[in-house]
Amino acid sequence: MRSYSIEHASGIDALKIVEQEIPAPGPRQLLVRMKAASINYRDLLVVCGNYSRNQPLPLVPLSDGAGEVVAVGEGVTRWKAGDRVASAFFQDWDAGGIGDGAARSALGGALDGVLAEYVVLGERGVVALPRHLSFEEGATLPCAALTAWHALRSGGLVCGQSVLTMGTGGVSVFALQFARAAGARVIATTGTETKMERLRALGASDAINYKSEPNWESKVFELTGRRGVDQVVEVGGAGTLGKSLKAVRAGGHISLIGVLAGGAGEVNPLPAVMKGVRIQGIFVGSREMFDEMNQAIELNAIRPVIDRIFPFDDAPEAYRHMQSGAHFGKVVISIQGRG
Ligand SMILES: NC(=O)c1ccc[n+]([C@@H]2O[C@H](COP(=O)([O-])OP(=O)(O)OC[C@H]3O[C@@H](n4cnc5c(N)ncnc54)[C@H](OP(=O)(O)O)[C@@H]3O)[C@@H](O)[C@H]2O)c1
Repeated sequence: MRSYSIEHASGIDALKIVEQEIPAPGPRQLLVRMKAASINYRDLLVVCGNYSRNQPLPLVPLSDGAGEVVAVGEGVTRWKAGDRVASAFFQDWDAGGIGDGAARSALGGALDGVLAEYVVLGERGVVALPRHLSFEEGATLPCAALTAWHALRSGGLVCGQSVLTMGTGGVSVFALQFARAAGARVIATTGTETKMERLRALGASDAINYKSEPNWESKVFELTGRRGVDQVVEVGGAGTLGKSLKAVRAGGHISLIGVLAGGAGEVNPLPAVMKGVRIQGIFVGSREMFDEMNQAIELNAIRPVIDRIFPFDDAPEAYRHMQSGAHFGKVVISIQGRG
């Protein structure tokens, strides 16, 4: 079978296809024929050597995949051949709060990932795909969708509240979709003028260009009647956190997720203190949250927004497209398992 491998994390050109034996599932494991995978911002950091100093190599990249179970190992009771499944980002985070071991079980990081024709996963390391989704759509869920879901849930989102999202990447577009499904108002930013109409078409009440309106936090404040939003899905990091603290209401919630506008830097914590803002770090989510999210996706007939699907052989091109920032939603790689 064919698989991508990163031997030196020196950039996108380091992605190489290798031939390997189809692995056999051990006890409580499944052999999954992968049909599709999707890329997250983190995967760009991994291939460029900017994710972790202790990154094990060689590595099969990507955490997010969907496919069909083709064989089960001894003792597996939850799954059978033919089941449609998606990989869980953390192979070892079932439920409850995040434990110390979760990060050591992340696919495409600590463990080999899913950009391969066949992958062995633990029986607790997959979830059932929502029935109305294709494999390509299902492959977008494990990281970006679950992170957005976890963020909104941790902020206790209820109908009628308001949410601020940033940019039009995977996490933010899912946050927009979930918030709208929950009956919340969404104010979205983007740095790309042509994406504003798409944000409104997905249900954002307002779209703000953060490049042409550098003081966009004041606009968010005005749009909420000078109250501030109830929640911020903060994917910018140190570069936007100060603005998020201005845009959020007193007693509001900020989910700290990403570093798109810079990971390090000084942020004045006083507004958080004086406004009683709750700031919660979010690291993807548990398998239980993933199941819960899939139920909501199915009940609300939510369809992930896929920007483009690339063939397996063109995976490096998919990475480059993601790196360009031109995408809206998710970038997917189709994997046709042979044989
Ligand atoms: N903590 C976690 O568990 C977790 C999980 C998933 C992702 N993340 C992090 O969350 C962030 C988003 O991930 P993703 O996979 O959704 O990324 P992505 O799909 O690559 O998002 C890229 C988009 O973000 C927007 N953007 C770029 N720079 C920006 C800035 N300075 N301010 C606001 N928006 C900006 C751009 O959209 P426009 O063209 O519309 O401006 C760009 O197209 C990344 O930092 C990632 O590492 C964290």
